[in-house]
Amino acid sequence: MFSRRKYSGYSPEQCPSPEKGQDGVFESGFAALENPAFPLFSDVEDNCEAGLSSYFETSMRKKWTRRHYIDLFAGPGKCVCRKTGTVYLGSPLLALTTKYPFTDYVFVDSDPENIVALQERGEALSASARIQFIVDDANRVAEEIVQRLHRAPSLNLAFLDPDGLEELRWKTVATLAKIERLDLIIHYSQMGLTRTMPQAYESEGETIVDSFFGDREWRKIYGEYCRKEESFLHRQLMDHYKSKLKELGYKETYRDDEVGAEPLMRNEKNAPLYRLLFASKHPLGLKFWEKVISRDAHGQRRLF
Ligand SMILES: C[S@@+](CC[C@H](N)C(=O)[O-])C[C@H]1O[C@@H](n2cnc3c(N)ncnc32)[C@H](O)[C@@H]1O
Repeated sequence: MFSRRKYSGYSPEQCPSPEKGQDGVFESGFAALENPAFPLFSDVEDNCEAGLSSYFETSMRKKWTRRHYIDLFAGPGKCVCRKTGTVYLGSPLLALTTKYPFTDYVFVDSDPENIVALQERGEALSASARIQFIVDDANRVAEEIVQRLHRAPSLNLAFLDPDGLEELRWKTVATLAKIERLDLIIHYSQMGLTRTMPQAYESEGETIVDSFFGDREWRKIYGEYCRKEESFLHRQLMDHYKSKLKELGYKETYRDDEVGAEPLMRNEKNAPLYRLLFASKHPLGLKFWEKVISRDAHGQRRLF
């Protein structure tokens, strides 16, 4: 579903000229048209569509005639890799065009220009789906979405893909957990945390790291492991995050020792940017995620 399928109607020449962004690799100056994309992200996510389609090919699709897709940080619907100029479909348009689509979509973005662009693109792509477009802060609007969906007889998937660390709060993840049969894909901002934790650790007040984790436990973990390898520290932090997801009812998260269960996106300098975490309340959800993470864009087994 989240494969960065190349969008054939838009050539690289039509892209605005490249301009260095924060990570020095991707275009960042024309959000109303395309958000930045990460080439490695495309590799990992090329399998998501196949994974999700097969998820719905099975009895699940017959069983659940209503299927909701919730994209709380939707973007304008297209992404561009600044380095190559390649334009990809973003998560909302991929979700709309997957082989076995959802019946209902909720797209949220705080930037009105993104939602205008997405609305035009989304409505042109799908005539039959029920689509709600919301301009708002995802953290503010989550409760309203829950009120509408929490008892809906539907199968639900939420994608929480903010730009970085500060946009997604734990409170929002906890709010969404009230929705029955909700699977989650969450952007874990490894680089954002690595950069922010040293200062946040010294701070007495509530920091964005506290808001992300929803408590101050991370400080203990950081205090104990900050001198170890970065990957080791993040292993502990992700395990803490996942243990909190379990408390919310997401029984099915991957075990800590399963290599590659949280695909890692890197920037051009090979520095870790972020990971995608998956959580499901149902064992079948993991089958979808297994398909997503087990093979790369060329059908090869991924090696992490
Ligand atoms: C990484 S992009 C999403 C990319 C999208 N998943 C895709 O595949 O194309 C993050 C988006 O979140 C939006 N955003 C940032 N802060 C937000 C907030 N507090 N609430 C909702 N949207 C927000 C940004 O405008 C941006 O479009």
